Amino acid sequence: MAEEIKIEGTAKEDKYRSLYPQLRSLMDGEPDLIANMANVASALKETFDFFWVGFYRVSDHQLLLGPFQGPIACTRISYGKGVCGTAWKEGRTVLVADVDQFPGHIACSSLSRSEIVVPVKRSGKIIAVLDVDSEQLNTFDEVDARYLEQICDLFGNSR
Ligand code: SME
Repeated sequence: MAEEIKIEGTAKEDKYRSLYPQLRSLMDGEPDLIANMANVASALKETFDFFWVGFYRVSDHQLLLGPFQGPIACTRISYGKGVCGTAWKEGRTVLVADVDQFPGHIACSSLSRSEIVVPVKRSGKIIAVLDVDSEQLNTFDEVDARYLEQICDLFGNSR
């Protein structure tokens, strides 16, 4: 197992390109879902210094807070509620440039201004979502969506 993540480049896309294969080999050797979520949350937080990075797992018809990095957060989110519940219900990545413009946004922290939520699927079924929050408006774009989706695809073999 790699002892540390080494990131090359300064542009966002270069950083993702450098991070992705390291996460892939880290997760290749580890089948445990929670352990892999913990390392992915840490690696994204360390690489990009996002305000909040974490997972909510589908549990008992709700999203339940899982491994994360950042301030404490809401523990349970209902189906279809907030950005996370919307990404779960619609089965797609949701990009929010300004959380104040997203009806029903759940403000776990008043400091969060923009957000991206990516579903984590196993055999086509959503088992969790990855939520990344920023203190700035308009932080996330298609580059984040593409790479975060690739990273979430790595969970296909985790149990
Ligand atoms: N803002 C999210 C809730 C989770 S926190 O941001 C960590 C939402 O609207 O679903």
